[in-house]
Amino acid sequence: MTRVFSGVKPTGHLTLGNYLGAMRRWAAVDQHRSDALFCVVDLHALTVDHDPARVRRLSRQAASLLLAAGLDPELCTVFVQSHVDEHARLSYVLECVATDGEMRRMIQYKEKAARERERGGSVRLSLLTYPVLMAADILAYGTDEVPVGDDQTQHVELARDLAVRFNQRYGHTFVVPRATGPAVAARVMNLQDPTSKMGKSEDTGPGIVYLLDEPDVVRKKVMRAVTDSGRDVVYDREERAGLANLLEILAACTGGDPAELAGGYDSYGALKKDTAEAVVEMLRPVRERHKELCADPGYVEGVLEDGAGKARAMARPTVDAAYRGIGLLPPAGASR
Ligand code: TRP
Repeated sequence: MTRVFSGVKPTGHLTLGNYLGAMRRWAAVDQHRSDALFCVVDLHALTVDHDPARVRRLSRQAASLLLAAGLDPELCTVFVQSHVDEHARLSYVLECVATDGEMRRMIQYKEKAARERERGGSVRLSLLTYPVLMAADILAYGTDEVPVGDDQTQHVELARDLAVRFNQRYGHTFVVPRATGPAVAARVMNLQDPTSKMGKSEDTGPGIVYLLDEPDVVRKKVMRAVTDSGRDVVYDREERAGLANLLEILAACTGGDPAELAGGYDSYGALKKDTAEAVVEMLRPVRERHKELCADPGYVEGVLEDGAGKARAMARPTVDAAYRGIGLLPPAGASR
């Protein structure tokens, strides 16, 4: 069965973009047709300035939201990265296979580091090496497919390169993974800046709908979405980005087609209203289930404990094989 691995980074509250772009499909498709692992990648949240209590809180919340969104621990493995030592163990070994030049070429690193330098600041060394940790996340599980957004495909490419290189130098150890992108229609843009992705990291933006926003907050954000000075409702991603984003969100929520939906409207107001209601209705069960889970923290903890146990058992043999392959002496008593 195809092995799928993906992760969410607890650096901010999860958004409508995370849900429509990834989580919904993990629940509806991936967990059913594959042997899937979904990981709250908390080690990655330490690569940028962070508040320890907040990371802990967001990690717990991300795990509950994955379950609230429909991931079923009977079908897939849900766990927290730092509960499974194999990630850090393998990351170090892969650092000995990657080059520093390769790391410095990563677009996300270059952009973030340049931004920090402009402000006179510095970045953590772990931000430079983070793609190696991500490669370890993926390779430890013999992953075939990594469902991620465009901004992560370069990192998955790196994981492929490292797998191939390791296998050539030290003997076949890793499955070579590939990225599988989400459907284009599910790319949700910021409501206030429809040319940039609705990411979670920039935090409290009026253009970002969070999965746990109250219905009235969702309505307000959608009603205030930036459109343009035109009057007619047409679907045109290039020229009418704000409008197109609303139509795509509505389409994603209702299962329609954005261009067809456009034909049914003659005012922005009516479109915004319907979009707001569609989002509120789609998120309602997720919010409700999340509330139930918050009332039962023991359940979530149990799921994460089982998940970590399963994950550990899957990763261990591969990481041990990598240790042996690269030349580390097995401890006495370990089977060779
Ligand atoms: N880097 C990813 C992000 O920022 C999160 C991530 C970490 C991930 N490890 C992963 C995604 C492994 C897929 C597979 O969104």
